[in-house]
Amino acid sequence: MTTVSSLATLKTTLKRAVAVAAVTLAAVSLQPGTASAGTAPVVGGTRAAQGEFPFMVRLSMGCGGALYTQQIVLTAAHCVSGSGNNTSITATAGVVDLKSSSAIKVKSTKVLQAPGYNGTGKDWALIKLAQPINLPTLKIAETKAYDNGTFTVAGWGAAREGGAQQRYLLKATVPFVSDASCKESYGSSLVPAEEICAGFDQGGVDTCQGDSGGPMFRRDNANAWIQVGIVSWGEGCARPDYPGVYTEVSTFAAAIKSAAATL
Ligand code: ARG
Repeated sequence: MTTVSSLATLKTTLKRAVAVAAVTLAAVSLQPGTASAGTAPVVGGTRAAQGEFPFMVRLSMGCGGALYTQQIVLTAAHCVSGSGNNTSITATAGVVDLKSSSAIKVKSTKVLQAPGYNGTGKDWALIKLAQPINLPTLKIAETKAYDNGTFTVAGWGAAREGGAQQRYLLKATVPFVSDASCKESYGSSLVPAEEICAGFDQGGVDTCQGDSGGPMFRRDNANAWIQVGIVSWGEGCARPDYPGVYTEVSTFAAAIKSAAATL
């Protein structure tokens, strides 16, 4: 990444990243149909099987989430507008097909946006549900031990940059990208202590608009799924040299735990 030629393009790419970061933070902000490296479904993904990721939740504002407890969904701060009582969100769970007649739909009662959230970093929020949903939850990483390797991402967001939201849950795997490498793409827009990046140098596989708030997860040492990230932002989707940026869950695990206890 530190060749002479890549340094030549770095200046330009950093400039672009600043302009685009604001755009990609909108929950389902539609972008003009720019060319995308990926064409298949999440971008570059495939259909998830019914029951494969039972903790996955679709939120009615057009975001993803994961069951942190049976009555609390962990999502992105940029998917919600603040904290307090809120009965306007519907969580859909238990299905890969959002139109399935067996979908479990539960309303929200409260939202808790990350304390201090101002649009940069700290991109997490909790949504309390009116009733518990009897499905497996996804535990969160409490240390950086799993902030490496290959991650799974899933969501009902766009299958390509500028594309439509999906009816069926899509999944993909993406490799960890170091803070140093991710900073080459995003410069000071990246908050390394609060964000973790993932994607291929050549692009082609990524989360995209509408996947925000959904989990990035992997297997732990006991082979259980563990959440290491929350879909947050990126420049476009699946573009070469622009990895996806995810909230680093381990950084906020203690804050998430204590916030959940207040809901
Ligand atoms: N901000 C987007 C959303 O609200 C998620 C973008 C993720 N982008 C990416 N290239 N990984 O849905």
